[in-house]
Amino acid sequence: MTRRDSILREMGLGPIWRLRDAPEVALAADDGPEPAVVQDDPPPAPAAPPPRQAASPLKSLASFQNAAAEPAVARTPPADAGERTARLAGLDWEALTETILACRDCTLCEQRTQAVPGVGDVQADWLFVGEGPGAEEDARGEPFVGKAGKLLDAMLAAIDLRRGDNVYIANAVKCRPPLNRTPEAEELAACFPYLARQIELIRPKLIVALGRPAAQALLNTDIRIASARGRCFDYQGTPVIVTYHPAYLLRNPLDKAKAWEDLCFARRQMRDRQSGQGEV
Ligand code: URA
Repeated sequence: MTRRDSILREMGLGPIWRLRDAPEVALAADDGPEPAVVQDDPPPAPAAPPPRQAASPLKSLASFQNAAAEPAVARTPPADAGERTARLAGLDWEALTETILACRDCTLCEQRTQAVPGVGDVQADWLFVGEGPGAEEDARGEPFVGKAGKLLDAMLAAIDLRRGDNVYIANAVKCRPPLNRTPEAEELAACFPYLARQIELIRPKLIVALGRPAAQALLNTDIRIASARGRCFDYQGTPVIVTYHPAYLLRNPLDKAKAWEDLCFARRQMRDRQSGQGEV
């Protein structure tokens, strides 16, 4: 068994790899109905942060342009969003990390062990954004170190990526929501300036949003993963691709095949951009 076979097997994708026999799996524009129980896609949409343009698919992706546009949802930014964003604007990595670790801007700080800023290559081409730290991440101060993190590592390996090597991993909220609940709209909004500054500093070529809260935080619009997959969105000139959160995939292993398609799509987008074909 090759290394790739064993990685795909770990993701639960061995047979699918063999059936399709190629990483460049064609994506269907419509991936079918939403799963009936989608904890990753809960009905009340957590809101995303400050006033920005709502997400739009990138013009260059003609094959995906026919997908219906997501409705834009106006978000109410926290009253001091502009001031907070301005405060972070000049911060370098060290100062930003210190600010995140000391943050008390929302109630998530009350029950955290520590804030979890992110991990990886600060000049990475790839940025993966999750939802928020869980218990193990809260204890260790690093994102995605629990079971979901193991699956994320396998997902990265499946497209020849490794944590820390041209990859940065961050979360939409930096402090653990109690009982691992989905972050509230206000929490996502309060924390967004940190992610925004991280993106400014990293300047990734591609962002992969893992799950709905991350997608909504980045794209500032209501997103359902099932209908947003296979499309390339834009965050201030950086392409954003969405896929299922690894924790969701652990609960819904049948959707791992879709996540694999999404990763292949992301890899194609990255290659296009690296070879100068992609247009933002
Ligand atoms: N889930 C996330 O979204 N982020 C983590 O860091 C861990 C689990």
